[in-house]
Amino acid sequence: MRRKNKLRIGFILGLALWVWISGWVTFQGPIEASSQETSDDEYAGDPVAGKKLMRDLDCYQCHGIGKEGGDVGPDLTNVRLRRSKEWLFQWLEDPSLSRPSTGMPAFEWKSYEEINNIIAYLDTLKTPVDSAKILKEKDLIKAGEMLVEAYDCRACHTIKTGGLDIYPNLTKAGEKLRPEWDKKFLKDPSAWDVYAFMPNFHLSDQEIEAIVVYIMSKK
Ligand code: HEC
Ligand code: HEC
Repeated sequence: MRRKNKLRIGFILGLALWVWISGWVTFQGPIEASSQETSDDEYAGDPVAGKKLMRDLDCYQCHGIGKEGGDVGPDLTNVRLRRSKEWLFQWLEDPSLSRPSTGMPAFEWKSYEEINNIIAYLDTLKTPVDSAKILKEKDLIKAGEMLVEAYDCRACHTIKTGGLDIYPNLTKAGEKLRPEWDKKFLKDPSAWDVYAFMPNFHLSDQEIEAIVVYIMSKK
């Protein structure tokens, strides 16, 4: 009994030390790409100021936005379809907390307002996905292709006709992935790896079905 207590105290002290050393930040873990927005006011900002700031800080050097910009990182035009404002705030505050290996630098913000302004600007760029309309398409391969386009999966993946090439290339997914595995993965990428960078798009089963049929197809 006493031995057990000692062990327990040792364990608790060890844990406390570990928490202290690894710091609150690591302990918090990565940010969940939740679609449940915290009240929008919390991240209210000025899109015009955000646009100017992105220009001044030259985010375009690495990111495509609209028709211009680099391809070191994902195109940001539709980033608000895949990342919540909360996720974006934490990402911009310090990207390496969400992805230790990231090539994106941490910026020295003068205030949180600056980050909110950028988020407000990014929010104006997205084109919402009308999946009900897309899913009326009877040819599942075609519907999947339209969804991949609408959700802008190519901001990160090369899929058949092009896209960014810094993450898994999905052009030949049909040869190496299994449809059932893909469906589970797309439902919640972080279920496999809490540090997954692949966003959770909160796709419906029908959307996933079409997307997987398209990705697996040889066309
Ligand atoms: C030196 C290149 C570089 C610069 C400059 C840069 N980024 Fe990034 N950014 C990246 C990379 C690379 C990623 C992808 C993360 C990874 O793979 O590590 C990324 C990811 C992001 C993401 C998440 C994208 C997604 O699809 O989830 C956002 C948002 C973002 N950057 C915004 C910005 C903003 C805003 C600026 C300017 C203030 C900026 N970045 C400047 C390289 C850069
Ligand atoms: C912000 C970048 C980003 C976007 C946008 C993105 N993905 Fe991913 N995806 C990743 C990353 C990174 C991985 C590798 C696993 C990880 O680190 O999370 C991945 C992995 C995958 C995999 C597993 C591939 C393998 O070989 O294991 C599939 C399938 C996939 N993504 C499909 C999609 C689809 C479909 C979309 C659009 C609805 C999409 N992704 C949009 C970043 C992205």
